[in-house]
Amino acid sequence: MSESTGSCAAVLVDGLRVHLGASRVLDGISLRVARGETLGLLGANGSGKTTLVKVLMGLVPITAGRVLLHGSDIRNRRSVPWSRIGYVPQRVNSNPAMAVTAEEVVASGLLTDRNLFRGRRGRGRVMEALEQVGLAGRAGDSVHIFSGGQQQRVLIARALVRRPELLVIDEPMSGIDRKSQEALAATLGKLQSEGTSIVVVLHDLGVLAPIIERTVVLENGRVVHDGAPPSSRPPSPDQDHFHGQVRGQPPRCTAPVIAAGWRGQ
Ligand SMILES: Nc1ncnc2c1ncn2[C@@H]1O[C@H](COP(=O)(O)OP(=O)(O)O)[C@@H](O)[C@H]1O
Ligand SMILES: [Mg+2]
Repeated sequence: MSESTGSCAAVLVDGLRVHLGASRVLDGISLRVARGETLGLLGANGSGKTTLVKVLMGLVPITAGRVLLHGSDIRNRRSVPWSRIGYVPQRVNSNPAMAVTAEEVVASGLLTDRNLFRGRRGRGRVMEALEQVGLAGRAGDSVHIFSGGQQQRVLIARALVRRPELLVIDEPMSGIDRKSQEALAATLGKLQSEGTSIVVVLHDLGVLAPIIERTVVLENGRVVHDGAPPSSRPPSPDQDHFHGQVRGQPPRCTAPVIAAGWRGQ
């Protein structure tokens, strides 16, 4: 892979294979997410979506191939700018015995930047992130009394508090009501308009259809589609599916403007 291929990439995955136990869960995955691009990662249950995003976050070891985040190989952990990368996992283990406030959960997103975590500026960032998901008024409440949708918003705030350049979010629409889905779509649309690169795992495009620029579909740990979202017009013959950009044009580093918020939630 040439250096120029990765120069504007938020994510570059090349020949990735992952074994977990006896099974080959990811089998030769290659994909690229340009900076500022919004990628939908789709596929049936068990196709390997969560494993792939966990690999991106350095949470699952690689058997073969490589993964670069903003040009840094994740095997060299210290070289990766984790403090500007936000991750919202599919599931969180919540322990009701621990009375953790929304503010504390969100502040934990700043642990990669100790000065910010401890300082007053950090507290401002935490409140700003809670504001972004419409929960500023609930900062001091224990997350264990929150609904599933509210808990998920706290986790989104924990990712947003980093002001991420890359946001990776695993099945955010599962188990939340339509109104919350629309509010989340608006939040992601705003981040997109600000140039954030977004990788979002989805069952279907749903309310996120307007902001998904490209989809990668997994089947049994392999990429079976990489290109335009299913419902949009077919890609032009010049579309380079592997690199997600049109040949002869510079890579996309910006995205269109869509803005809104969680107001009224
Ligand atoms: N820790 C693990 N050990 C063994 N197999 C696993 C492990 N985690 C996931 N798998 C298997 O990997 C496959 C992909 O799982 P996953 O990445 O969670 O898929 P998806 O998110 O698309 O539903 C499934 O067959 C799952 O059973
Ligand atoms: Mg999953």
